[in-house]
Amino acid sequence: MKKRYFLILFIVTFISRGQESNIKSSVKNVETKVDSVLNLMTLEEKIGQMVQYNGGWDLTGPATNAGNKQKEDRIKKGLVGSLLNVLSPEATESAQRLNMENSRLKIPMMFGYDVIHGYKTIFPVPLGETASWDLDAMQESAKIAALEAVADGVNWTFSPMIDVSRDARWGRIMEGSGEDPYLTSRVAEAKVRGYQGENLADPQTIAATAKHFAGYGFVEGGRDYNVANIGKTELNNFILPPFKAAADAGVATFMNSFNTVDGTPATASEYLQREILKGKWDWKGFVVSDWGSIAELIPHGIAKDKIEAAEIAIKAGSDMDMEGGAYETGLKKLVEEGKIDEKIIDDAVRRILRVKFKMGLFEDPYRYSNKNLKSQVNYEEHRKTARDIARKSIVLLKNEGNLLPLKQNQKIAIIGPLADDKDTPIGNWRAQGEANSAVSVVEGIRNLGPRNISYAKGVDLGMGEKSFLVPLKINETDRSGIPEAVEKAKAADVVVMVLGEDAFQTGEGRSQTNIDLAGLQKELLKKVYEVNKNIVLVLINGRPMEITWSAKNIPAIVEAWQLGTESGNAIADVLYGKYNPSGKLPVSFPHAVGQEPLYYNHKNTGRPYTPGVVTSSHYTDIENGPLYPFGYGLSYTTFKYSAPRLSSDKMNAGDSISVKVDVTNTGNLAGREVVQFYLRDKVASLARPVKELKGFKLVELAPGETKTVEFNIDEKMLEFYDAAGEWVTEPGEFEVMIGGNSEEVQNTDFEFIKQ
Ligand code: GLC
Repeated sequence: MKKRYFLILFIVTFISRGQESNIKSSVKNVETKVDSVLNLMTLEEKIGQMVQYNGGWDLTGPATNAGNKQKEDRIKKGLVGSLLNVLSPEATESAQRLNMENSRLKIPMMFGYDVIHGYKTIFPVPLGETASWDLDAMQESAKIAALEAVADGVNWTFSPMIDVSRDARWGRIMEGSGEDPYLTSRVAEAKVRGYQGENLADPQTIAATAKHFAGYGFVEGGRDYNVANIGKTELNNFILPPFKAAADAGVATFMNSFNTVDGTPATASEYLQREILKGKWDWKGFVVSDWGSIAELIPHGIAKDKIEAAEIAIKAGSDMDMEGGAYETGLKKLVEEGKIDEKIIDDAVRRILRVKFKMGLFEDPYRYSNKNLKSQVNYEEHRKTARDIARKSIVLLKNEGNLLPLKQNQKIAIIGPLADDKDTPIGNWRAQGEANSAVSVVEGIRNLGPRNISYAKGVDLGMGEKSFLVPLKINETDRSGIPEAVEKAKAADVVVMVLGEDAFQTGEGRSQTNIDLAGLQKELLKKVYEVNKNIVLVLINGRPMEITWSAKNIPAIVEAWQLGTESGNAIADVLYGKYNPSGKLPVSFPHAVGQEPLYYNHKNTGRPYTPGVVTSSHYTDIENGPLYPFGYGLSYTTFKYSAPRLSSDKMNAGDSISVKVDVTNTGNLAGREVVQFYLRDKVASLARPVKELKGFKLVELAPGETKTVEFNIDEKMLEFYDAAGEWVTEPGEFEVMIGGNSEEVQNTDFEFIKQ
């Protein structure tokens, strides 16, 4: 036994020798090491690397396995490749020690966790953070999350979630970056850089996961775990680009998804996992299944038992089985019966070992179980960053009569179930963010210094026990707090109504048919409106909401998402003008939930909308289009755009042209503007979207200042996946559109010439 350990150690050391003194392993050496270790492994040990168990700490799915005794026995035999939900340096060290001191080959385990928008310092939910369009900020929050996670023994996060989604009924729309593939792709790259840094072996970085591969955001009806009835052109043009971006950015792992794509569960999709990810994209990491998704091939009706599920999933390219119990049940038998070739297992194990070597785990299996790290984490500094990112994520939707920013001497009544709620801003995927640890709106306003404020909750929103696996109860009956709220509203100059969604109204398994203000919130709002119309509605929510009545009647509306730990401070900063709001919607807000799925990059159809009856894309009982469009957001100042100027109105294949626009701050406050650049392919072999985001730039402008913003246009930008299954560019007319949101744009045309 000992001999073998020294053999592993020799292999790792010998091959490592001569490398730079730092912790970087060159790719060549890693491959040599991987093959050397693989050649020592028995079939059982190989299969062991493909098994991931829940540590029992923080269940995020229905636990499928027996108690911890069975898991510990397997760990001691080196038959567990990874654990999830095991937290603290002590816990991960003791689990790793169980493996390293008992198993034959001492192959270190990875420790995964859902660090979705922060670990202990919680940042805005991803949909909200994307509204900042600030890629540097989003990279920084991932970097901070990694620092805090690794201080707690976690070395792998199941993030970023990069499922493009257009349906606000889907509870997990909160977890992604909205409806646009280009914006989601840029966020994916920023998050991978943030989590993984320059070198995965750096003990202050963690492995990232591109999830959920693929099509999860297109589930029919917005119902979680449902079917996604999409063809290959929609899949490749709208859903896959962010995953390609993550793969190109070097993401260490992928996670597959629960849904079917055109009838095949993603976990069973050779097209997705082998033909595209590992084939065309030549990606070298490993795919972990989502929780139990391999065994779920049985209820999908694709497999009759776990053995068949294991056969289908391994052939499809799923490398590691999270809590499914399928690989440990079926793979050995399948090899022995000749139903699968051991080479297919070798490929999966090679991928897993490759990531572990790159993480430096073989050089130091306890590298990420460092008890001293936590005391070095500067949580105060992280909170400052969290406040800054939260402020940038806030979207000003309406500000009639410049009711905002508030003035210090105004008498303010802060009303609503979320006004002093310290828990909801932490969101549903809260990792180790403590319950009730957020700054509430009431606290945030008080933190700004003496002000004449009153507070009334008015009504409860969510009631009873709240946690990941417990259905949320909404208050539909208790109105007892409304009279006090109305009295306080009557006595105030301005009312700040803080309404929206409880943290556990969004997230996994939280799809809703209604996306309006649940419970008694609308009743409270209208009662207050009867006595005081000077209302600022602050929304704290995870998904686009139906706020049509408010948009019509309430003078000021602020979309504040679930902003995390520093929520109340960030909201107060915006309400009182300490920060001039610059957020832009990453997702369309509908007039009514019946319009969902709703998105800006839609097709023109054969009967594009014009007022009347026999035209498409509209409903006879609601105004056409979104209430607030993709890319929309106001500022306390105003911006003017010049007409876009092309460097040429013709572009030849292989060439590039550029487009410039002058943006002027025409108000009297400095502000940040997100300049957006859209393209339309007017005639193509496929029906193409009426516009697609192809670039954006953040510009800071002083009052009266003008800056010229330039975007480069090249052939790559014109590519799309055609009906023949090829990425092509086609000659013809293209429309350029530039503006401060997807609807208010100025345009010009160019011709793409391809002989
Ligand atoms: C959940 C989620 C996935 C998460 C995993 C582990 O079911 O779908 O996003 O990473 O299980 O918690």
